[in-house]
Amino acid sequence: MIVLYLSDYKKFCIKMPTVSDRGLIMPDSPIRKLAPLARKAKAEGIKVYHLNIGQPDLPTPPEALAAIKNITRTILEYSPSEGILSFRQKLVSYYRKFNIEVGVEDIIVTAGGSEAVTFAFMSCLDPGDEIIVPEPAYANYEAFAVVAGAKIKSIAAKIEEGFALPPIEEFEKLITPKTKGIMICNPNNPTGYLYTQQEMNAIRDLVKKYDLYLFSDEVYREFCYTGAPYISAFHLEGIEQNVVLVDSVSKRYSECGLRIGALITKNKAVRANVMKFCQARLSPPLIGQIAAEASLDADSDYMLNIYNEYVARRKFLIDGLNRIDGVYSPIPMGAFYTVARLPVDDSDKFCAWLLSDYQYKGQTIFMAPATGFYTGSERGHNEVRIAYVLKKEDLAAALEVLQEALKVYPGSKVRQKEVAAEL
Ligand SMILES: Cc1ncc(COP(=O)(O)O)c(C=O)c1O
Repeated sequence: MIVLYLSDYKKFCIKMPTVSDRGLIMPDSPIRKLAPLARKAKAEGIKVYHLNIGQPDLPTPPEALAAIKNITRTILEYSPSEGILSFRQKLVSYYRKFNIEVGVEDIIVTAGGSEAVTFAFMSCLDPGDEIIVPEPAYANYEAFAVVAGAKIKSIAAKIEEGFALPPIEEFEKLITPKTKGIMICNPNNPTGYLYTQQEMNAIRDLVKKYDLYLFSDEVYREFCYTGAPYISAFHLEGIEQNVVLVDSVSKRYSECGLRIGALITKNKAVRANVMKFCQARLSPPLIGQIAAEASLDADSDYMLNIYNEYVARRKFLIDGLNRIDGVYSPIPMGAFYTVARLPVDDSDKFCAWLLSDYQYKGQTIFMAPATGFYTGSERGHNEVRIAYVLKKEDLAAALEVLQEALKVYPGSKVRQKEVAAEL
């Protein structure tokens, strides 16, 4: 009896160290948070179409795969913290093709664009500093801002306006003594919007007026579909010292697993800070750099084939979405995503329901609820992000699943309309 009493007592007295508040406020990834439901559906034999994640299904350049196969090194050593020189030199020529004039000293290789964003925030922002971000936005900006202790002030772009840049006066209204920068993604994930020269000039003027950083994520620059020019932050005159550009090979060469990106800035003081974070993490991935460097030699047909494939998929998906009763998607101008409005009560519930309670001919779809691409809790409840990273036949099947699901989902306005008509 006494032993039992003591062990119970001990159990109640076991103290647990507390976890960090920072971890508690870290947001879930809207792209990955429903993954356990998808895994369960798959284990039950359901075919799940992944429209949730920007993981291209297209091949990596053969040059990259050959470079990995042909490694003759006997030691897989650390590389320099700023990245391998020959890779950085080759990147200079790559950027020149886009009229981005940077020197090798301006380029720091990172473990993916993710590390570039993290180091950019850590190097430019102090805890409590604010950055303004037009939304919906790539969800991890918020996560990386949490890591840096910084705060995101958001401005909503509207689906009715194709997610164009909100009026610059709206940005100006949010500027406080704590505002240190603006973060944009161009072409945009999740909306596919491509900022116009006029919009970029407006951003430039604001950056200049308040001496802000312009964090510009341009990882989708290869994927611009409308003939409209891609305007890099480095094309904007007079703010060269303010620009911190984020890049990655993940999407353009279908190399998400390589974990190679870059942070590029002409600002020496920022680079000096970034280098300290780089040194602390020792080195970017060696094998990744070898493959990424080889990818820069990819045949011009490689990029063209990939590009043409996305052009075809984009048209197929957007036409298909807009044909479904109650669904609306603007036409994305770049990247390989769209944010679509659905006739549902709550996109989080709908996306979860699709995975846990629904199948059509043994298939279902995994989409990312758009709520996770907005920092506030009010927006995105009837929107989802869809990545067109699947071949056309799979997109056709996914569209069919969506159409049929909207007829039976309990929170669907299409279903409610049909029920009301029957009464
Ligand atoms: C806009 C944008 N930036 C950065 C990243 C990070 O990419 P990675 O860390 O794989 O280079 C992603 C990945 O989806 C992205 O969409």
